[in-house]
Amino acid sequence: MKKPTYYITTPIYYSSGQLHLGHCYTTVICDALARYKRMDGYDVFYLTGTDEHGMKVQEIAQKLGTTPQKYVDGLFEDIVKLWKALGISYDKIIRTTDDYHEKTVQKIYQILLDKGALYKSRYKGWYCTPCESFWTESQLVDGCCPDCGRPVHEEEEESYFFRLSDYADKLLQLYKDNPDFISPKSRMNEMVNNFIKPGLKDLCVSRTNVKWGIPLSFDPKHVAYVWIDALSNYITALGYLQDDNANFAKYWPADLHMVGKEITRFHTIIWPALLMALDLHMPKQVYGHGWLNFYGDKMSKSKGNVAYPLPLIDRYGADAVRYYLLREIPFGSDGSYTDDSFLGRINTDLCNTLGNLVSRTTAMITQYFGGKVPEPQQYTDLDNQLIDTINGAKQAISQHIDMLNVPEALADIWKILNRANKYIDETCPWTLAKDQAQKGRLQTVLYCLEESIRVSAILLAPFLPHTAQKIYDKLTLGKLPKNFKDAVFGRGKAGKTVVKGDNLFDRLDINKELKIMQDMRPKATEKTEDKAQQSADKATDNGEITIEDFAKVQLVTAKVLSCEKVEKSDKLLVLQLQVGDERRQVVSGIAQHYSPQYLVGKTVVLVKNLKPVKLRGVESQGMILCAADDKDVIFVTPEKEMDGGKTVR
Ligand code: ME8
Ligand code: MG
Repeated sequence: MKKPTYYITTPIYYSSGQLHLGHCYTTVICDALARYKRMDGYDVFYLTGTDEHGMKVQEIAQKLGTTPQKYVDGLFEDIVKLWKALGISYDKIIRTTDDYHEKTVQKIYQILLDKGALYKSRYKGWYCTPCESFWTESQLVDGCCPDCGRPVHEEEEESYFFRLSDYADKLLQLYKDNPDFISPKSRMNEMVNNFIKPGLKDLCVSRTNVKWGIPLSFDPKHVAYVWIDALSNYITALGYLQDDNANFAKYWPADLHMVGKEITRFHTIIWPALLMALDLHMPKQVYGHGWLNFYGDKMSKSKGNVAYPLPLIDRYGADAVRYYLLREIPFGSDGSYTDDSFLGRINTDLCNTLGNLVSRTTAMITQYFGGKVPEPQQYTDLDNQLIDTINGAKQAISQHIDMLNVPEALADIWKILNRANKYIDETCPWTLAKDQAQKGRLQTVLYCLEESIRVSAILLAPFLPHTAQKIYDKLTLGKLPKNFKDAVFGRGKAGKTVVKGDNLFDRLDINKELKIMQDMRPKATEKTEDKAQQSADKATDNGEITIEDFAKVQLVTAKVLSCEKVEKSDKLLVLQLQVGDERRQVVSGIAQHYSPQYLVGKTVVLVKNLKPVKLRGVESQGMILCAADDKDVIFVTPEKEMDGGKTVR
């Protein structure tokens, strides 16, 4: 029987600097999905790559006194090493400087020109080099890029334009006919309301001021706009318009383009329009995942707000990093990296729950049965509960994977591990071992435990491939299976040898590790308060502060006079507050939890002496206190009606 195909892609990574832990999020998520689908019987093609052209690369190479090609060659090597270290199982890695890609992009432009989808005109407007994005005057926020907030510069040049404005209705129809095309749903509303409804403008798709790019065959002083060059990778990598286009025939359209939320726009507006112009099929889904922040702030190299993957992989192993990325960030939302949460996941989930279960089980089989898996006897209700948990996991995982909810899929595996650990406490094998009459019972208990870890290893394989193999090695079962067929209770054979060996994960001394992590982090190049440093300092005294420390924070009640949404932001509200006789303006990230009208007249608690900051160009003079968990954010309010300006202690 022919296998169904599954084509999954990451964005291609900018070759303009070292990749940080946030970048690894996209590749690791896709890797888990690709491995899962392979084991689930799909013929998978997993594509990643590097985005090597553009103004940014040209400028950096110039600064470094090297050629753009040499510069990107070096970065490409680093990226390949990083993916290898993380165990990324891509089927192909494309570079936009690959000859076949460049030639195909030229052909794509020729087709667009022949079909009348391109015309020549003059571009006048603003350009953000870090984002490689064009903006109109009215789109700028405080004169800066609305996406990244960095300065833009004016551009005026002769350019080819793509008739993007022709596609508004077709795009809306596409979204309507395919409600999952843009996921999560919230991002679809953003695309429609912020970009399509205000009117799509034709897109400038060639540059004459940039030299490091693909020259257009019909007008070589123009090079292809990097985003058209980059997006095309998803089809050029498959052999589109090339002699060998078997992969294109087999895998296109893509099942899933996984991208970060900031580039959803390019993948759900420009990319489908381009494909329509080329008369090609639409990808089935674009998933815009959230960001991995750094102590609540956007990862930024210049601010030193950044975690790098290689030192973490070297010290804690690839699977600790994979686990953290896959488990810690609620899917679709943002998550925040902190050293504590990283180390906590290792100690709690990997060491205590997974590692201990495996070491206790293998140790007891070694001690009581000479390292041979015993033959089970009669199963009790308690055994059956564990067996049900084991056998129910695969289906639960599949459902979560279908929704792309990887953290919950992992949680399904942890249900087995937690149940099995509890089962050890409930059955007390060490007591059974003292009583010869209980030998049969002990056999059953240890068989059940062996099956828990055997099945868990198979289920873990897509997520933590190295650890899963280690468990398989301890059970002397050879190489991990290529499918989930044996992920059911009872397939394990009695009599098989088990070895205890080393711990899967050693317990970490958190305070010691926090110091080490601090030392391995590169120092900030810009002056800034280093939050991780502060956290490490605090860690030495258990994070306790003195009453004097606390007294530095001025907390007061404040009445909300008015409130509105911050323009071009779906998270931020700007509140006008009455604090005694003073007025304050505060920006708060609660737009997804409260409507502006609801907040008017409410009393909130304000951190009054927080240094003012600008958020999306809007000044925030303090912060309001909220209680939060994964789903909800709820503002804190005094228990009885109270005026603004009262001290909170
Ligand atoms: O955008 N958290 O490349 P890129 C989560 N070349 N994901 C993050 C992240 C963070 N802190 N930082 C980056 C580009 N990413 C273009 C793509 S595709 C035709 C061209 C993710 O190197 C980001 O969201 O800036 C994106 O999915 C990927 O890393 C590559 O980003
Ligand atoms: Mg980016």
